[in-house]
Amino acid sequence: MFKLSKRLFSTLKFKRGDFARLVDSDITHFESIVGKENVKTTELDLYNTDWMKSFKGNSTCVLLPQTAQQVSAILKHCFHRYLAVVPQSGNTGLVGASVPVFDEIILSTSKLRNNFNLDLSSGILECDSGFILEELESRLAPQGYIMPIDLGAKGSCLIGGNVATAAGGIRFIRYGSMHSNVLGLQVALADQNGTLLELGTGLRKDNSGLHSHHLFVGSEGQLGIITGIKMLVAPKPTSICSMWLGTDSFEKCQKILREAKTKLGEVLSAFEFLDAETLRCLKENENLDKPLETASKYNLLIETSGSNPVHDMEKVDGFLSYCLENELAKDGILAKNQTEASYLWKLRETATLALMHDGYVYKNDVSLPLKYYYELTDVVRERLGDKAIRVINYGHLGDGNAHLNITTKKFSQEVYDLLYPFIYKWVTEKGGSISAEHGIGQLKKPYIHLGKHEKELSLNKELKKIFDPKGILNPYKMIDL
Ligand code: FAD
Ligand code: MLT
Ligand code: ZN
Repeated sequence: MFKLSKRLFSTLKFKRGDFARLVDSDITHFESIVGKENVKTTELDLYNTDWMKSFKGNSTCVLLPQTAQQVSAILKHCFHRYLAVVPQSGNTGLVGASVPVFDEIILSTSKLRNNFNLDLSSGILECDSGFILEELESRLAPQGYIMPIDLGAKGSCLIGGNVATAAGGIRFIRYGSMHSNVLGLQVALADQNGTLLELGTGLRKDNSGLHSHHLFVGSEGQLGIITGIKMLVAPKPTSICSMWLGTDSFEKCQKILREAKTKLGEVLSAFEFLDAETLRCLKENENLDKPLETASKYNLLIETSGSNPVHDMEKVDGFLSYCLENELAKDGILAKNQTEASYLWKLRETATLALMHDGYVYKNDVSLPLKYYYELTDVVRERLGDKAIRVINYGHLGDGNAHLNITTKKFSQEVYDLLYPFIYKWVTEKGGSISAEHGIGQLKKPYIHLGKHEKELSLNKELKKIFDPKGILNPYKMIDL
């Protein structure tokens, strides 16, 4: 579909650590742990290349363990041999964290999928880390539950990857991130025994110690390999309504959010944003039409999830009328059925893919105080002039998370230098964060210090040394020893 973009390597310079190089006896040892069929040494392109096609590593070995004990034995060997390892789940990460920088071994968790147990009364799920998010959703549905997170990559990302990235997504406004839902983790450490640790008890309430499992949520594969998860899942809603509103004032978007929080209250489950340029991109690159006849500068996709269709519809109808009558929105529709609702969500979820057709995507994933949420987009548009194909903003407005994306035909150093560190400095000066949900990985590594105290960064290094004393887990990325 699209060619490999020129790597950002002219900008991001890494020097290979003095890790050992893989030799035949390592491969033989790995085969004795996981079986010959689970050691791959050919056709590794898909594992070496990230989803954005921006980063490509040179690993010559992918390991596919099936049990936590096998993961532990692999890490023990890597520790003693000083071999670097990249944990990989669905490889849908957007910051180049899930692929090697050099020749690190790739440890894929995609075959760690034996245990699945749901406690029906408490809604606590215990499972291995290799299940696909969408598969978990399907397994939970007949039992009356859903996963508390949902994202466009649900068909490919694995739950372990979701934990390791502290994935956000479209249900965040209702259920929070993985931090809000993970109750305990089983992790394998890259130490002399490949120690398998059970962290957290998996109870909803437990103040008998530090909640150290949270250190692994969002750790980007740099502290240990997550092999098992205990987490809270949510009751399956029986009534879901989706609506689309258009307005030409960003001030009004914020008012609509405030009103949604009070008027839709406990049933509000998503509050997403797409600007007019995103809709133009969806039309030009994916031939998807905008849902309203009128065109609006700002578009909101709002969803409610509840348990009483009559009660929910009354709220949603009242809310839509309120927004139109008070001219907060200039146009709006309520999805009449599942097909219409799916179309609205298709528009939102296809935005990521639609951009890729332009060529090279400069992806941003920032958190901003709401009053600055859109200002950055206009600032960047003006700064780039006609140097970009498009500058668009979509995202999780309800959570203050903006996905500002810029495209050019090919990677352009000139555009990159106009964007970075300008965007990150602008964001942190306004009290925002350079990453709301995608993380640091390779992409944002040079800017990790922005908005962080030196002490916090050195504390992170000290923590990494405790869990990964030789620094062999996912080197060169968020926490660099
Ligand atoms: P990978 O990409 O394989 O890995 C991600 C990181 O976690 C890497 O650092 C890796 O080393 C580490 N890791 C993976 N598995 C383990 C493990 N078992 N133990 C320790 N470390 C591990 N993200 C959001 O937050 N919100 C969104 O709305 C969202 N939407 C997306 C939509 C699309 C179309 C795409 C392509 C991506 C989207 N993402 C989103 C980004 C991505 O899907 C998430 O970050 C996801 O959680 C990554 O899961 P994964 O299984 O693909 O992990
Ligand atoms: C999204 O919300 O669509 C994702 O985080 C992916 C993206 O930023 O494109
Ligand atoms: Zn997102």
